[in-house]
Amino acid sequence: MSGQTPTKGAPSKRLFIKTYGCQMNVYDSERMADVLSPLGYALSDTPDEADLVVLNTCHIREKATEKVYSELGKLKEMRDERVAEGGSRMIIAVAGCVAQAEGEEIMRRQPAVDLVVGPQAYHQLPELIARSHRARGERLSADFAADEKFDALGPVGRTAHGVTAFLTVQEGCDKFCTFCVVPYTRGGEWSRSPETIEAEARDLAAQGVREVTLLGQNVNAYAGEGGLAALVRRLAAIPGLDRIRYTTSHPRDMDEALIAAHGELDALMPYLHLPVQSGSDRILKAMNRSHTAESYVRLIERIRGSRPDMAISGDFIVGFPGERDSDFEATLALVREVNYATAFTFKYSRRPGTPAAAMPGQVDEAVKDERLARLNALLDEQARAFNAGQVGKVLPVLFERPGRHPGQLIGRSPYLQAVHATAPDRLIGRIVPVRIEGSARMSLAGALVSDDVSGELEPA
Ligand code: 5AD
Ligand code: SF4
Repeated sequence: MSGQTPTKGAPSKRLFIKTYGCQMNVYDSERMADVLSPLGYALSDTPDEADLVVLNTCHIREKATEKVYSELGKLKEMRDERVAEGGSRMIIAVAGCVAQAEGEEIMRRQPAVDLVVGPQAYHQLPELIARSHRARGERLSADFAADEKFDALGPVGRTAHGVTAFLTVQEGCDKFCTFCVVPYTRGGEWSRSPETIEAEARDLAAQGVREVTLLGQNVNAYAGEGGLAALVRRLAAIPGLDRIRYTTSHPRDMDEALIAAHGELDALMPYLHLPVQSGSDRILKAMNRSHTAESYVRLIERIRGSRPDMAISGDFIVGFPGERDSDFEATLALVREVNYATAFTFKYSRRPGTPAAAMPGQVDEAVKDERLARLNALLDEQARAFNAGQVGKVLPVLFERPGRHPGQLIGRSPYLQAVHATAPDRLIGRIVPVRIEGSARMSLAGALVSDDVSGELEPA
């Protein structure tokens, strides 16, 4: 796509995108807005007057599909009312992983849907929309290979929204954890070339972006030359790009070069999301995770050997089929040993078509609830302690946006904690030393070290 601004004289149309799920979807929604802007579509924050509504869906959560159908039902009603009142007819599109998983079944179940577009086909949206305008009633769906998507979206022409940005470098998964739908919905592992990623990162930096988060379902399986470590080094050399993060990683792909990079590159932030899922080897085996509790703990030790202050985050599933009390106790023991800065916890939910859905020993919902509560209590305690440990320190904070209270800004510490401080708007986009004075479960409060903020930290 070229021509990022609406064609002169093009009628202005309203686009509403509702995003569900992960950061990959947030990124994809931004890209969809970008490819549609040359058609005259401007983003709106409600569906009420929209000419085009996109539901960018997620398939991970329980009942995700049902929620999409219920949302579609509401949109259909809204559209019917509008048409009855003589208003314009909105186009309804379904994108994301539910679109991928359900395909044309969506159009069968909800006739109001005009188009279904899988995660690999967003570059075709303008054409699909144009065709849908021309041929009312001709309902459309598309999916294409990932490389085509990225070639067509191109590295240039993406609009930055703020001082931080997500950048997709890898998609898909070959790991086939037995509980997970991603390998089926997003397909096999696939990496973009370092050249196109660098071009996109330079373009973002030129627009004032100072922090990028590299995205991939298995980001550390990045297969470009030299792996993720080489890519991070390459991006760290871009002037103005001072902070690099990446998510989500798999323990199996955490190689020595990447571990070493954490000790060597100041731009690589000391925060690592490394899901373990369980602390029981029996359950890990049934999950097809390819690591043990012991190998995971040793890995964390090596990472902390390279970067001692690393904040570790994880994903956990409680109540996987066959999980006994002793398995769950092993998970708690692992959590105590690792000491997490933050974490995401889930009750196992059956995903049709995945091996675990058919396993014997499905765990009672009440047992799952109880285990989840105990795990959350422990992780909560660790998160609070991690945050409290920052009080009294001076941390470099990248200010991102105004806070809820006048005169306040919100930024992020290197450890990804939200930091609130009284600071002038002109500090948005700058990395400034902040003395941390208070902490809570999710955030820190601090004060600028000096009123004279000419002391902004220099890029490393
Ligand atoms: N049930 C519960 N949690 C799941 N996750 C993925 N699939 C399931 C499922 N079927 C969790 C995993 C993964 C995170 C993104 O979602 O912990 O790491
Ligand atoms: Fe799903 Fe496992 Fe792949 Fe993560 S590594 S996306 S949990 S199959």
